[in-house]
Amino acid sequence: MAETLFFSSTSKDKRYAELLPQLQALIETEENPIANMANFCAALKEAFGWFWIGFYMVAGEELILGPFQGPVACTRIAKGKGVCGTAWAQEKTILVEDVEAFPGHIACSALSKSEIVVPLIKNGAVIGVLDIDSTELATFDQLDQTQLEKICQWFVTRL
Ligand code: SME
Repeated sequence: MAETLFFSSTSKDKRYAELLPQLQALIETEENPIANMANFCAALKEAFGWFWIGFYMVAGEELILGPFQGPVACTRIAKGKGVCGTAWAQEKTILVEDVEAFPGHIACSALSKSEIVVPLIKNGAVIGVLDIDSTELATFDQLDQTQLEKICQWFVTRL
């Protein structure tokens, strides 16, 4: 396919509906996981314009920064630390309306106000997390959680 994405709708649920087939077309023709993670982040950035979108991948007892879109970020996060390490340890999505209210939140950028972290679960084990940050409070809701979990369930099959 041409490496161009097309979005016609301004509503969030319709954007997700437009995004998924285009993401699948982009990623299912490529085997390399780094290339796929990189394009995944770029596609979400184009679709929604969020401040920071990226992957942290499990390496031993830490998460290590992977492909991302946005400002520079911290490179390593221990299991159970921050929102990312908590999503890994608890093996569930963490939705944070106000990062200042999340105990132990790791502030890679002072501009980040709300966050969602979705664990990537492959063959029953967490292999990494998808982390998305916004400069606005309470950007992410149940719709984002449901849609991002669905996208990630498919995406782990490409990693
Ligand atoms: N806020 C995250 C750290 C990663 S940055 O947001 C890119 C956390 O608390 O785990």
